[in-house]
Amino acid sequence: MEWVSELLGRLHPLVIHLPIGFLVLGGLLWLKNRQSSEYPALLPTLFLWTGLAGALACLSGYLLYRSGGYAYESVETHLWFGLVTTLFCLLLYAKDKASFLAPLKKLPLSALLGLGLVLIAITGHKGGTLTHGEGYLSEPLPRAVKKALGLPVFEELPIALTADNWKDADLYDGVVHPILNNKCVGCHGPTQAKGGLRLHRQEDILSGGKNGPVIGAKTPDRSELLVRIGLPGENEDHMPPLEKEPLLREEIALLKAWVAAGHPFEGSIGEHGLEMALLEPFFPKNAADYYPDATLAPVPADSLKTARDNSLHVEPLSRDLPWLRVSALNKPDFSLADTLLMEPFVSLVVTLDLSNTRINDSLYHYLKRLPNLTVLNLAHTTVTERGIEQLASLGNLKNLNLNHTEITPALLAKLEAFPALEKVYVFGTLLPEDGPKSLKDGTVTIEYGGYVLPGIASDSISY
Ligand code: HEC
Repeated sequence: MEWVSELLGRLHPLVIHLPIGFLVLGGLLWLKNRQSSEYPALLPTLFLWTGLAGALACLSGYLLYRSGGYAYESVETHLWFGLVTTLFCLLLYAKDKASFLAPLKKLPLSALLGLGLVLIAITGHKGGTLTHGEGYLSEPLPRAVKKALGLPVFEELPIALTADNWKDADLYDGVVHPILNNKCVGCHGPTQAKGGLRLHRQEDILSGGKNGPVIGAKTPDRSELLVRIGLPGENEDHMPPLEKEPLLREEIALLKAWVAAGHPFEGSIGEHGLEMALLEPFFPKNAADYYPDATLAPVPADSLKTARDNSLHVEPLSRDLPWLRVSALNKPDFSLADTLLMEPFVSLVVTLDLSNTRINDSLYHYLKRLPNLTVLNLAHTTVTERGIEQLASLGNLKNLNLNHTEITPALLAKLEAFPALEKVYVFGTLLPEDGPKSLKDGTVTIEYGGYVLPGIASDSISY
């Protein structure tokens, strides 16, 4: 007959609504009759029903606890509050019947009802926390409200690396932990453990998720954590889920390098032999100096949302500037039609990542229309002389990534005409590495390697 008790236990989430409903109904009846100062005749019956339904809820809850694998400590408060609430409602019923309870009758009904409702609310809340986890209810509250209530607020952790200190910075504490914190811990952390996984502490990372460990020893390609990040954006297992801010390419490369180094939790970046190339993208750029100087109105949020809903990644470059960073990381089929998504904020786009997309010549014509574009990543795309030529009119373009493209010496020469260009990346191209190191008398540096990520898997998979 064990199945009976198990079934009854599973009915607990249903049964608990009965006492809540009865007690709320009691409160409403009292409110309705308050003016006529009549004692609602139905109230004692309602209290009896609340008590009986409460007893049933306690019983089913107890059976669920027995069969559901809950630890006593986790259910303790909920269980006791449930019992007390039930007893309290039975007392409310009995006070009119038993003379020894007469003192209770002297208390105002509103206070008794109010106390009953408070007790049942606490019981319900404790039960909800058991099912959904701590902080489930408060999570959607705005930051300011959470702070005012003294609730934990998610703090984004900065990565504070510079060209001078990067080698001595802690690999895990300084870089890996902030990345996981900023992009994953909202769902895999102290308040929520989606998929049974928490990523905010060493022991949690090591113990993995409901399907076991998520990191393999020095094997990024077989580590679930990285495999999921590397899945195409529309795959439902892709992490973070599409509606959340994806990892940047440099963040993925860094997590890979960390796993490849044996996912150490101690030691500096230098000790673990990571190349500067992996860290350089995290060095601070003084955004205000690097990007154009203009006062522009911020974009309407709905146009950003439309772009994001269509898999374009759009994020503000910094808190104090209006500029946007746009990436087609999750959109390898980015085409001319998608440029319409950027139309409402063309003048705000300062960095654009179209690497690994299948763009063609028709698109360059559009790129010309991004007046403040400063950083353009065209790595792993088909670039042509006719296309690149058109970008010469971009008066703010400073940084152009042509890694892994079919750039030719003739095409490189075209860059002489780019007015603001400072840096061109041509790693993994057919250009001879002993070719010119700069253009325009040294104003444009040509990077053949060094800053470039080694041939990691993220270069060859499409997101
Ligand atoms: C919006 C919430 C959300 C965010 C943010 C998020 N995840 Fe997840 N993650 C989930 C959900 C939900 C599951 C469970 C999906 C399932 O069971 O298939 C999951 C499952 C996983 C798993 C599989 C665990 C297992 O053992 O089955 C891994 C690994 C993972 N996430 C890694 C990450 C990483 C790394 C990040 C940050 C880059 C991240 N997630 C960000 C919601 C999220």
